[in-house]
Amino acid sequence: MNFRAIKGMNDILPGEIERWQAFERAFRDTVELFGYREARTPIVEPTSLFVRSIGEATDIVEKEMYSFERHDDALTLRPEGTAGVIRAFVEHHIDQKEPVTRWYYLGPMFRGERPARGRYRQFYQVGCELIGDAGPASDAEMIDMVVRFFERIGIGQLEVVVNSLGGPSTRPRYRQALVEHLTPRAEKLSEDSQRRLKTNPLRILDSKDPRDIEAMQGAPSVIDVLEGDDLEHWHGLLRHLEHLGTPFRPDPLLVRGLDYYRRTLFEIRTSAGQVGAQNAIGGGGRYDGLVAELGGPDLPSIGFALGIERILLAMSEAPAARKPVCFVAPIGQRASMEALVLARELRERGIVVDVDTRGASLRAMLRRANGLSAPVCLVLGDAEVESGQVQLKDLEGHGQSTLPRAEIVAQVVARLQGAGGTAG
Ligand code: HAM
Repeated sequence: MNFRAIKGMNDILPGEIERWQAFERAFRDTVELFGYREARTPIVEPTSLFVRSIGEATDIVEKEMYSFERHDDALTLRPEGTAGVIRAFVEHHIDQKEPVTRWYYLGPMFRGERPARGRYRQFYQVGCELIGDAGPASDAEMIDMVVRFFERIGIGQLEVVVNSLGGPSTRPRYRQALVEHLTPRAEKLSEDSQRRLKTNPLRILDSKDPRDIEAMQGAPSVIDVLEGDDLEHWHGLLRHLEHLGTPFRPDPLLVRGLDYYRRTLFEIRTSAGQVGAQNAIGGGGRYDGLVAELGGPDLPSIGFALGIERILLAMSEAPAARKPVCFVAPIGQRASMEALVLARELRERGIVVDVDTRGASLRAMLRRANGLSAPVCLVLGDAEVESGQVQLKDLEGHGQSTLPRAEIVAQVVARLQGAGGTAG
């Protein structure tokens, strides 16, 4: 019987994982500079949490959730991170400890979408949630942070699309205006959009179907129906982004597939690298109202998430540098024991050490050392242990020398660190 990973779920193995780790490090470094702290929440949450927050009439809730029952509880593998993070925020009364909370998270998410390049059923996100600040300055700071992060990791050809959905009163008004525009054209809409016209007409805005795009010609723009504080917030956001010099493009057709959004929405796209059709590498928006909806105080919030797989597709393929390995090849039983002590001393100095404890022939061990691209191999036989010496083979320069055991650690450190070694 051959077992295979589930369709749309991938193994990420050594060789590839280094790029993930470098990405995650860069993300942590960036967002921590902005005061975000990591929160880890369970991968499984009550199904009702996602229905309540993401919304009943969304694609995610209608057809993509991995849901199951256990011990009479209806559970779901999280399709996104915001719902669980806000559930934790409310559950632990974090608002009573601080007026503004900045949390980040990373981990797997699950959506039963049709798998394609850049679209998976288990995929990984990094994300941030900022709770307790209603002003457009925080929206602009967040969008700018995302753009600077992409610059830092070297993703070009970025497009930052922003829109506003207004507040609770705008959505029904805009929905009404849209329905009035589309109802006379309903027969020309795609089958999906004919259904959406009844359940979630805003979703028709980002349909890629040419029939829907045609029917949307001349439709009212959401920005036209913004009023009062919502309109002020939108203008405030644009002013802040311009002042920061953040590149962006307002797009009144931007809607996103989650119902909790209010006011600011944004999405980051790129045409770089191998990203292809799944070019949305991140998205987010304001979700004032969700904290209260989940039983907490009425606090404004904004957040975003980035898809790691898509970003790595957009980045150059260059593998992340690996720290050089010092290979240790013991021959004989005493040498084998002594090799473990020597390896410990080297690791205490920050050197990556691979000791070959198989009891293999020198030839076989050297083959492995070459396979690991180890610049240095230390050979010690029982005779060397007896005489307090170690043989150092330079696998790049092909030289070799016999050195006193007492000097060997310093020698290896000098060679590998000199080669840019421990910086990794
Ligand atoms: P989202 O737009 O659904 O937003 O997902 C964010 C990002 O996750 C997408 O831009 C994409 O890069 C990646 N992504 C989504 N689905 C897949 C998939 N099937 N395969 C690979 N990558 C995928 C959210 O999830 C919101 N929670 C963001 C947010 C946080 N809004 C406020 N706070």
